[in-house]
Amino acid sequence: MSHGSNSRRCDDGAGQHPLDQLLEEHSLQRAVLQAVERELQRPPEDRSLRSAFWCQLLEFLVNFVDRHHADREEKLLFPVFAAQQGTAGWIVVQRLRAAHERFRAACRRLAEAVERRTLAPVQQAAWSLATLWRAHLDDEEAALLRPCRRLLEPQVEQLLRTGLASLSSCDHAAAGHCRCRQLAHCLGSTDAEFAG
Ligand SMILES: [Fe+2]
Ligand SMILES: [Fe+2]
Repeated sequence: MSHGSNSRRCDDGAGQHPLDQLLEEHSLQRAVLQAVERELQRPPEDRSLRSAFWCQLLEFLVNFVDRHHADREEKLLFPVFAAQQGTAGWIVVQRLRAAHERFRAACRRLAEAVERRTLAPVQQAAWSLATLWRAHLDDEEAALLRPCRRLLEPQVEQLLRTGLASLSSCDHAAAGHCRCRQLAHCLGSTDAEFAG
């Protein structure tokens, strides 16, 4: 496998504006999403099930997108936004929370399909996951992350910054974050080997 992960610096975003950290994590997710779409569009003669690709993707989805990224949004950003924006903010947050739940359900369906090791159900589950995932990233950036940049008062920004830093502070979280960045790089690499 040639993914050059050892030479890549693992940046946990410390020092960045908290919203920039989350937007940068969206960029990483979009790179993996593109890799999924590429995998689904491989030529028909080359469409064996590459289990290693799907297993690494599932690890990235569960550990980075859900446990790392969505968890921070739900624990820190959603409550701050809803508190600042009143009913309109609460409606946005409810919609985004519901999208997280649909995303988790889609990940579980993909995991079940990968376990059965049959190509068609994996492709079907992956297309549906990719559609939900892209729509959620677009919605969250437009309705929450970009408006939030204008709306956050300095003390709220500091609260978010401290909250994100404390969630990143343990060694276990830092190691997991680093591993997920390596996975994203590997999944996005066109010369990576995923046979089997
Ligand atoms: Fe997000
Ligand atoms: Fe989200």
